[in-house]
Amino acid sequence: MRERVQQTLRFVIAQDGDTRHAERTAAVLRELGADEELILAGLLHDRGKPTGTRLWHRIAGVLIARFAPGLRSRFARGESTFARYLDHARRGAAQAEAEGRSPRVVRLIARHHEPPRDDDERLLARADREALP
Ligand SMILES: [Fe+2]
Repeated sequence: MRERVQQTLRFVIAQDGDTRHAERTAAVLRELGADEELILAGLLHDRGKPTGTRLWHRIAGVLIARFAPGLRSRFARGESTFARYLDHARRGAAQAEAEGRSPRVVRLIARHHEPPRDDDERLLARADREALP
């Protein structure tokens, strides 16, 4: 939890933190020996995040995930920036699917905030954590 908040703060402080995070996630995956498809998923995994995402969106997202995960789907409805932020995994996956990315890449993006259930998802989750901006 503390790690996640620190990561969130670094995002905000870092110039263009999301782009750097995507590139760093892909680089970590490459270092860990992931194949090109998994590396691509790492590069694209957070692309569904809206550009107007603010610090409070990120902090509220961490707090909801930790203390009220059941409310997440309710807050993720609609077109507000916060809703789009909470729904970024699904939206990013839909975007990747529309671009013709492989089902594996689409699934990895869609599930990257769910508890990992296979080696691919564990590796992406690890790279996501380690890829501090
Ligand atoms: Fe994400």
